[in-house]
Amino acid sequence: MDLTTKYLGLTLPHPVVPSASQPLSKDLASLKRLEDNGAAAVILHSLFEEQIRLEADSLEHFLEQGSQSFAEALTYFPAPESYMHGPEEYLELVRQAKEVLSIPVIGSLNGISTGGWTEYARKIEQAGADAIELNIYYVATNPKLSSADVEQVYVDVLREVKSRVKIPVSVKMGPYVTALVHFAKRLEAAGADGLSLFNRFYQPDIDIEALEVAHELHLSTSAEMLLPLRWMAILRPHLTISLGATTGVHTPADALKLLMAGADVVHLCAAILKNGAPRIKEVRDGIAAWLTSHEYDSLNQARGSMSQASCPEPGAFERANYMKVVHSYRRR
Ligand SMILES: Cc1cc2nc3c(=O)[nH]c(=O)nc-3n(C[C@H](O)[C@H](O)[C@H](O)COP(=O)(O)O)c2cc1C
Repeated sequence: MDLTTKYLGLTLPHPVVPSASQPLSKDLASLKRLEDNGAAAVILHSLFEEQIRLEADSLEHFLEQGSQSFAEALTYFPAPESYMHGPEEYLELVRQAKEVLSIPVIGSLNGISTGGWTEYARKIEQAGADAIELNIYYVATNPKLSSADVEQVYVDVLREVKSRVKIPVSVKMGPYVTALVHFAKRLEAAGADGLSLFNRFYQPDIDIEALEVAHELHLSTSAEMLLPLRWMAILRPHLTISLGATTGVHTPADALKLLMAGADVVHLCAAILKNGAPRIKEVRDGIAAWLTSHEYDSLNQARGSMSQASCPEPGAFERANYMKVVHSYRRR
């Protein structure tokens, strides 16, 4: 089965790409394991703006300026020594990954402001990365900032990163945007070569005995894939750039649904953490087996066939479906 996939200007043999996470890319051996188990490309874990700023000794600068909010924010930030890779080690990982692996290597930057730290985009490019995923993980809690202000932040960071590199840049973004199609088109116009749908925001819990905020990372299940699925189907007809799907991709069926909705690639993280790297091959082979048994000639024939522009019931992705779903509920 021909699973050939174009993503961020790269030609990949199939659409299964492990997503950014420290456990999956912590060292060369882990990356090699992903390649040996069939990964079409790898995305390294993120290098964070805060890490770069700390390294650049800007802490002192910020404190001198009396920025209480920055000092306070740092108390929630893990100590630099708990990171496996400081900025220089991160670049070294990119270099070594490019030397050792034969699949494309995508670097990841995670930040929410413009400034000198975005120079690391260029350094990641110089270290040999084939593309950059820019994760903008912004939780809007400031009542003075409107949605337009927050959207401008995304556009500004993207433009700055784009101005520093020639390699493709995709934006990994959250789903909580009022007018998502309009905003996605704005990112496309600002130069994004792709979008990754969606950032999975980790929700703090409360420990009612200790009266503390609890931070426990719960891995996703397939049910969470429905959020990117809906928006993939809605966005695909409006965008020509690459689209990656992340969150809740665990099985070949999850992957097929997202590809039919219009995804170019699917990203696996929790599925590999739970089941090991062989899950990559299982998902790839499961996609191929399903396409063969349903008499498709290639993945491209199926890709996008259930997007809002192509599916038999386009309204199903919109409000009309809400009434239908609530009225269809029957107590089991
Ligand atoms: C332990 C862990 C570490 C992660 N680290 C990163 C990261 O460094 N950068 C990033 O963009 N996403 C990171 N993610 C998010 C994943 O790339 C992915 O988008 C998210 O887990 C949803 O996909 P999933 O349902 O397949 O897990 C991390 C996720 C996990 C579970």
